[in-house]
Amino acid sequence: MCQYSADDGCANDWHFVHLGMLANSGAALLVVEATAVERRGRITHGCLGIYSDECEAELARVIAHCRRHGSAKLGIQIGHAGRKASSRRPWEGGQGLAYEEDPWETIAPSAIAFGPHWPAPREMNADDLVRVRDAFVAAAERAVRLRFDAIELHMAHGYLLHSFVSPVSNQRTDRYGGSLDARLRYPLEIVEAVRAVVPSGMPLGARITGSDWRNDGLTPDDAVVHAKALKAAGLDFVCVSSGGITADTKITIGPGYQVPFAEKVRREAEIATRAVGLIATPRQAETILAEGKADMVALARAMLDDPRWGWHAAQEFAGEVQRPPQYARAAPGLWPGATYLD
Ligand SMILES: Cc1cc2nc3c(=O)[nH]c(=O)nc-3n(C[C@H](O)[C@H](O)[C@H](O)COP(=O)(O)O)c2cc1C
Repeated sequence: MCQYSADDGCANDWHFVHLGMLANSGAALLVVEATAVERRGRITHGCLGIYSDECEAELARVIAHCRRHGSAKLGIQIGHAGRKASSRRPWEGGQGLAYEEDPWETIAPSAIAFGPHWPAPREMNADDLVRVRDAFVAAAERAVRLRFDAIELHMAHGYLLHSFVSPVSNQRTDRYGGSLDARLRYPLEIVEAVRAVVPSGMPLGARITGSDWRNDGLTPDDAVVHAKALKAAGLDFVCVSSGGITADTKITIGPGYQVPFAEKVRREAEIATRAVGLIATPRQAETILAEGKADMVALARAMLDDPRWGWHAAQEFAGEVQRPPQYARAAPGLWPGATYLD
């Protein structure tokens, strides 16, 4: 989850504490927030990056801490914000940065703004396509060097790769626009280039769009085509999200609202699939898995609200979860004979 708190792309004490906490949540896998493959691919001035030696070194410090004191495997989501870059932090109102806020030029498949209060991006030319592809590769190489356990490509939420796949934002007339196959071409070139530098035993996946929630946008059937193409290109898993392609997109939300998209993708594309979106209780999460609707579930806000969510879920199902020994006595039922007074 984006924290909008980095120093010019570099992790700091906030990430140290935040990720260190979540590494001890009982989660099997902790995925580091959308991390930009190039500086201008950050969403805000506060977004993490993985495009310089300095960013890599600061992330290494955080990762070492999570590994030393936490139990979760560690993944990283790498991405490029495209036409949604150069924006304000959510608590500063979102929207594109104004002139006095040090904005930067944004790039996208087509020169179409994300919304009325956003600048039009520049249409990516041949040099941009090569540079951004190479930036994804370099970022993946850094992530491998940092010994992450998994890498996830951000292909959802209206950011650059999603904006290539969606007909709403991609109106190119070259080989990267037009049919769904053509709109998938550039993201797939990136996937193939990244797969080539990520060891085969290291899980590489993507977060994709289950629906643009618009009549003129991507549908669940398109998500199946997308997932099949990713699988053929060597990806190991997908996480199915939705929305975010335009500022005015209206989404119908409710508990597990994106699970049907994940279920369809899992069944029809036959790829390991993660469900996400308003999954909040252990029982709900367990049911999604037990009913075969997804292979994994991801939680965002519920984990922020209760960073011991995994411990509490384990308690509910009489399961086991690894806790740091310093906190062992917080679960006396699991430790017969423990004393509380020291
Ligand atoms: C603070 C915050 C930051 C987020 N950052 C990211 C991100 O970096 N990458 C991403 O794919 N989704 C991000 N999301 C979306 C969540 O991953 C998730 O898809 C969404 O919140 C719905 O799941 P939830 O109901 O469990 O929160 C973020 C959500 C929140 C609340």
